[in-house]
Amino acid sequence: MAAKACSVLITGANRGLGLEMVKQMVESPWPVRQLLACCRDLDGLRAEGLRDLAKKHPNVITVIRLGEYSLCSIILFLHTLVGSLVGKAGLNLLVNNTGVLTYGTMQTTSTQKMQAAFNTNIMGPMDVTKEFLPYLQAAATASGKPGMSCSKPAVVSISSTVGSIATIKEMYSFFPIASAGLNMLTLCATEEFRKDEILFAVLHPGWVRTDMGGEGGAIDAPESVEGLLCMMDSLTEKQTGAFLDHEGKVMPW
Ligand SMILES: NC(=O)c1ccc[n+]([C@@H]2O[C@H](COP(=O)([O-])OP(=O)(O)OC[C@H]3O[C@@H](n4cnc5c(N)ncnc54)[C@H](OP(=O)(O)O)[C@@H]3O)[C@@H](O)[C@H]2O)c1
Repeated sequence: MAAKACSVLITGANRGLGLEMVKQMVESPWPVRQLLACCRDLDGLRAEGLRDLAKKHPNVITVIRLGEYSLCSIILFLHTLVGSLVGKAGLNLLVNNTGVLTYGTMQTTSTQKMQAAFNTNIMGPMDVTKEFLPYLQAAATASGKPGMSCSKPAVVSISSTVGSIATIKEMYSFFPIASAGLNMLTLCATEEFRKDEILFAVLHPGWVRTDMGGEGGAIDAPESVEGLLCMMDSLTEKQTGAFLDHEGKVMPW
């Protein structure tokens, strides 16, 4: 990641694409300055890889517990911690990576299942973005440069083409309403925060061999993340509100 002296917060950072993003961001020749890696179970088996990386890069990675999302779960101490870590330079890049994949139809999906997907894919990114907004705004002020980029403030949501309304005929069996909601949330935020010079974008990682993508995926996580980071690095004000894949292809909404 060429965005030197950049502070980044990633959700769902303990496995899959989130963990690979942490790895590549700290092990690149231009490592980020401050990486806040969030996961819901810091002590669990699934966070082992993240704990090891944090031990290897103690001055860069801070592991933060950020779990089942609701405004009241993002408590005061987190603000104090994040504020003290990023300082006056603020938070440059927030990556909303946490997500679940749904399957089903209206007849087979329960209200509870739908609510859980909405909480993870829509309410989580919304609450996290709202809570860390002061640090994103601080980064805009601190930058002093015009324009938008991921080394100024930016919020990138890792979503999916399954949430495209344009491709619903092929994708409806994913019942991808929560993914479509995240895409729309990003578009609304793009307009709301344009005046604050906060860039918003949706990135599709490809079909990736992670726990979510399964063994039949088309690519491995390192290849997907290499592409995603390259895309993040290249974003400017021209792409705020864009929906791109890991290779830079424009995705249909
Ligand atoms: N893999 C693909 O082919 C593919 C394709 C399109 C889009 N995506 C998107 O890419 C992102 C990352 O996917 P992935 O393949 O890395 O998935 P993954 O391997 O299943 O990892 C999902 C991450 O999200 C976290 N998470 C899930 N539900 C959560 C909740 N309710 N609260 C807090 N954390 C939660 C998980 O934490 P725990 O370990 O605690 O469960 C984990 O860190 C997702 O947004 C996904 O929709 C992936």
